[in-house]
Amino acid sequence: MAIEPVIQGVIARNCDPEGCSEAVLQQIEFVKKQPAPAYTPKRVLIIGASSGFGLATRIVSAFGAGADTIGVSFERSPSEKGCGTAGWHNNLAFCEAAKQEGLIAENIVGDAFSPAIRQHVVNTIKERFEGKVDLVVYSLAAGIRLDHKTGELVRSAIKPTGRKYQGFTLDLEHEALHSVTLEPASQKEINDTVKVMGGEDWHEWIDLLASKKLLTKDVKTLAYSYIGPEITHELYHQGTLGFAKQDLQRHASKIHDSLKPFNGEARVAVCKALVTKASVFIPGFGPYIMALYKAMKEQGLHEGCIEQIQRMFIEKLTISNASVIDSDRLIRMDDWELKPEIQSKVSQLLDQTTEDNFKTMLDFDGLKSEFLTLNGFLR
Ligand code: NAI
Repeated sequence: MAIEPVIQGVIARNCDPEGCSEAVLQQIEFVKKQPAPAYTPKRVLIIGASSGFGLATRIVSAFGAGADTIGVSFERSPSEKGCGTAGWHNNLAFCEAAKQEGLIAENIVGDAFSPAIRQHVVNTIKERFEGKVDLVVYSLAAGIRLDHKTGELVRSAIKPTGRKYQGFTLDLEHEALHSVTLEPASQKEINDTVKVMGGEDWHEWIDLLASKKLLTKDVKTLAYSYIGPEITHELYHQGTLGFAKQDLQRHASKIHDSLKPFNGEARVAVCKALVTKASVFIPGFGPYIMALYKAMKEQGLHEGCIEQIQRMFIEKLTISNASVIDSDRLIRMDDWELKPEIQSKVSQLLDQTTEDNFKTMLDFDGLKSEFLTLNGFLR
């Protein structure tokens, strides 16, 4: 019997395991049809590997570059209470497909901030990867972080800073736009968001792997960020998330310097705004994504996570530490999103959008269908 989606606000309360598997296989098929990338890491660790950009990175690494992979994620297995999370089933589908190709694929499920999971990863690299990784991708999107040193549970807050934000937020359950007012974040909320979503944890991971001598010569490490056009800055770039992403950039520079003995590089890749489990959670962001999808699809420039990461491997990453970067030392995968012709269309669409017409004015169907696909409900 077909499983019907249960959606609460912007959260899917269930998933269709077979559909999740099918969606992973579709991404694998896409990658197999593309030209092979010049950058071909052989042993890749992805932290945040079960969905969105992390899963796409794992698929391109394995099925584009032929890499063995270890994927860390925080997912729930099926139990008497439910069918488990989509990411759980994505992990299984990925591993099965990778093993069929003769690739090593290990899933490590648990809290990436915890010493126990880090140790588990270290042991797995030693046992399964002959003690070395050549690419480490940090693609966590977490709302909370248990500080294992102090025992404190730190929560991120998605808020503007300095002044309040007023806009529309999308309710997928009722297919409605609601007006929303977000008060500016306190200094503690900014600090906490930086703690959860900034670069400290990424830095600790790389320091640990380096101290255990698990990094190869020419090792690369990447973390993902978002900047966006000016119309989103109030909410994102100048908001709490923007503070966290600036912290990520600061850590990238320090990690980059620390990798000099390996001839390695640490980069932040700025990606396009896309529908993922994490991004639908950002209040006020839904209308922008729907307008962006409409504009990019009309102009034949739309990409999902898999297309973004595939293009990054082909066009931006190199074997040595010479990836294609801008003057801020960022890899720009948001180049198409920020094209003036795309952004002028987005602004025009948003200017005309109301609570009553957003379903036809913007790409509501596209956003909803991608959201359902993330949870295995393929239409
Ligand atoms: P996602 O929600 O699809 O994936 C997040 C991953 O992190 C999942 O694999 C999840 O299991 C894992 N995770 C979360 N907490 C964890 C924990 N404590 N321990 C272990 N694993 C944990 O998110 P998405 O959107 O792919 O985000 C990944 C990165 O890409 C984030 O840094 C995000 O800011 C960035 N990004 C996202 C954009 C978007 O529009 N979705 C745009 C540009 C950058």
